[in-house]
Order: sequence, then structure tokens, then C-alpha cells
Amino acid sequence: MRLSVIGCGYLGAVHAAAMASIGHDVVGIDTDAEKIAALSRGEAPFFEPGLSELLAEGVASGRLSFTTDIAAAAGARVHFVGVGTPQQQSGHAADLTHVHAAFDSLLPHLHAGDVVAGKSTVPVGTAATLTDAVAATGATLVWNPEFLREGWAVQDTIDPDRLVAGVPTGPAGVQAAEVLREVYHPAVAKGTPFIVTDYATAELVKVAANAFLATKISFINAMAEIAEVTGADVTQLADAIGHDVRIGRRFLGAGIGFGGGCLPKDIRAFAARAEELGRGESVTFLREVDAINLRRRDRAVQLVIDGLGGSVFGKRVAVLGAAFKPHSDDVRDSPALDAAVRLHGLGAEVVVTDPQAIENARRMHPQLTYVAERDETLRGADAVLLVTEWDEYRRELSPEHAASLTRGRVIVDGRNSYDAATWRAAGWTYLGMGRP
Ligand code: UDX
Repeated sequence: MRLSVIGCGYLGAVHAAAMASIGHDVVGIDTDAEKIAALSRGEAPFFEPGLSELLAEGVASGRLSFTTDIAAAAGARVHFVGVGTPQQQSGHAADLTHVHAAFDSLLPHLHAGDVVAGKSTVPVGTAATLTDAVAATGATLVWNPEFLREGWAVQDTIDPDRLVAGVPTGPAGVQAAEVLREVYHPAVAKGTPFIVTDYATAELVKVAANAFLATKISFINAMAEIAEVTGADVTQLADAIGHDVRIGRRFLGAGIGFGGGCLPKDIRAFAARAEELGRGESVTFLREVDAINLRRRDRAVQLVIDGLGGSVFGKRVAVLGAAFKPHSDDVRDSPALDAAVRLHGLGAEVVVTDPQAIENARRMHPQLTYVAERDETLRGADAVLLVTEWDEYRRELSPEHAASLTRGRVIVDGRNSYDAATWRAAGWTYLGMGRP
């Protein structure tokens, strides 16, 4: 099928490449000429495992092309809209400027029978405000949220856990859902749940899923706070409660907390939307979830201060990680960089390393020192702070090797990634998050 994808950021670029890889003819459209030029050469404009290969294949096959010209959408049967919905400059609500701009530019190019599939994460009620303008062209609007995780985006797009389509009532909605089912044929054929529902439910599924995940992380981080005053070990606690299949161990990783371009902004936008709807009290807990999450950043900084005897001033701190999580170069709302910036503000000589995210980090926080090599970062450090659990820090760094490079022997494990006993046995002061 011929598809257009409007917005070639994380979501759109991956979606376009993934759809081409399952046999569709795809045109990706974005207003950013530089991004389009890179994508047209088959190059990923950001780090995402497997994406470059998929882009190169798609472009070489002729099934995948990119342009800044929205008129190229004409002729596609399905138009995916995957533009960003960042947090507003003032306040917590989502900024829908890009969504409105994308729809305004797409509308003149729609034909009767087309399907417009909104993929952006939007406040519940957004699709209802867009549907009439789409229907006036003879096309049908569906809301088809995306659940991909950065670092696993290609796999999550080709082989998702579930597919959700919010459609209008009546035959046009039924037909649009069928078209979408056809687009996702390989996943549907292997039994992936395909849930057809109304707009509001589809929009809510996305924010509810992210709210739940954020809550799960903050729940275990709240337990970490209690563990810290009782001498309990939150990682053992998580293992023990995680054996209950109703709870499950995943997303019970206590540490410096969540960041990135989705969870923090999505829970804030959800709370703001609930307020607008007069139901703020239904999700007051999300403010708590946010607050607990931000407190963990303070805690990690405090552990470095404690480890260094009460002050970081003039001390060299090696920060392992800048991205908000491993397998990503994304530094948006990164707890790692937040901690690094605070330590720098307290007078520490902060040296940050990351296998992928240094360029992005430098652009955002030029005041910090960045070093590509892990070992060079560790050299001469008084304390080490692990904040992004890349394998080269988590698995491939022994306490003995680290000790051969650093000056001090203080390690703060912001992701509870290390075995405390092993580091202590090697002479380190090991400080974890919610661990004795
Ligand atoms: C998230 C959702 O998982 C995804 O479904 C949605 O489409 C977009 O938002 P992503 O932002 O890519 O995806 O990252 P995710 O893997 O969810 O991690 C989010 C943050 O939580 C990271 O900073 C990670 O380090 C942190 N995290 C995750 C924890 O602190 N503890 C955990 O146990 C798990």
C-alpha cells in the first residue's frame, strides 16, 4: 500500500522505515530539510539500533523516499501523522502546534477513501476536534497511538505488543479500521491484538500506559526512600514482590528515575488535561509520581556529596552516562545530565562520558566536560557516578580496573547496576539507591 508519514522524528522516521520493510511504498515528509537530506541518503538522524540498516535498505529498494514537500502525500492511501507534542514552554500541557500545522498542510492533499492515522501522543479529546476537517475531504481520521521504546523502536514498530485504532462510529470508521489492519498485516497475521475502539479510548490508552509505567517506577523509588531510612535493600524487595505475577519485576528498577522525551512530559500533560476536564483529582497521584522521580536526582547528587565527605567542591567526578537510558542518544530530560549539571553547579570538576549521547549532551550543556573514552573519564576521578547503565559501564567495568584509573574509591550506583559486595571487597565505598 502507498503510505505517507508526516513528521520524521523518532516516531515518524522509524515508522516510515519499518512500514517500507514490510513491503509498503512509503514517503516520509518533514519540514526539516537537513533531516530529510540525511534520511534520503539512508542515514538515521539519531542513534537507534537497526534503523540505519532499515533506512538504507528501504531507500535502495525504491520503496522508501523522503521529502519536505507535503504535496507528495497525495496518492497515499494512509497518512500517518507522527509529529512531536512537547511540553508547553509555560506550564505542563502538551503543545499541539505541530499537530495542527501537520493537519493544516495535509488536508488539501487528501482524497475520498484516504485514512489519516494520528500517531502523536495527544491530550484526550484532540482527535474529536480534528475529525470533521478530515471527513470534509472524504477521508477518515483514526487515532493509532504508538508504544515504541527508544532503543527498541524498530522491533516495537514491526512487532508491537498490541495495535490500537480509535475510529469514528459508522461505516467509515469500520472501513478505516480494516485499512489499518491491512497496513499492519504481518503483525495482525501473527496474532497481535488489534483493538478497535473510539477516539477518546485510543488517546487514553497511550497516556494511561505511560502513566502506569511512570507510576511503577516511582512506586519502587518511593520504596527506595523508605529503604534508605530502614536499612532495607530495595533491589531485593523488588525481586521479592516481582515474583508475584500480578506485580511483575519489570519496571521495578529503582535508581535515579525516569527521563526522556515521553514519560515525564506525558504524565504532566495528562495531569494538565485532567484539570481542564474538571477531573484533576483523579490523577493527583501523577504529581506525586513526578515529585518522587525528581527527588531521586537530588538523592544521587547527595550520595556523591556524602561519599566525598560532605563537599564536591574542587573534586573530580566521573559521570558514566548522559543519555536518559542505554541504547539511545536521547538526552531530553535525562536524569544523568541533570545530576551532572548539579554537581558542576556545586563546584565539582565533572567529566561526562557516553557511548552515543555526547554530541547531544554538549549541545544542551556546553559547560560540562565530555570525554569519549570511558577509561579517560575515570582517570584521576575522586568519585564515580553511574547514571546510564550501558553495558560498557555496567557489565564490562570491574572494580579492580576502575581502581587502577581513579584517584578516589567512591562509587555511586545511580541505577543499582552493580553488586555492592564485589565493589566493597575491592576497597570501594559503594553507595546505591535504596540499598544499605
Ligand atoms: C516509554 C514507554 O516505555 C513507551 O512505551 C512509550 O511509547 C514511550 O515512553 P521510552 O521513553 O523509550 O519509552 O523509555 P523506557 O524504556 O520506558 O524508559 C523510560 C525511563 O524510565 C528511562 O529513563 C529509564 O531509565 C527509566 N526506568 C525504566 C527506570 O528508572 N526503572 C525501570 O525499571 C525502567
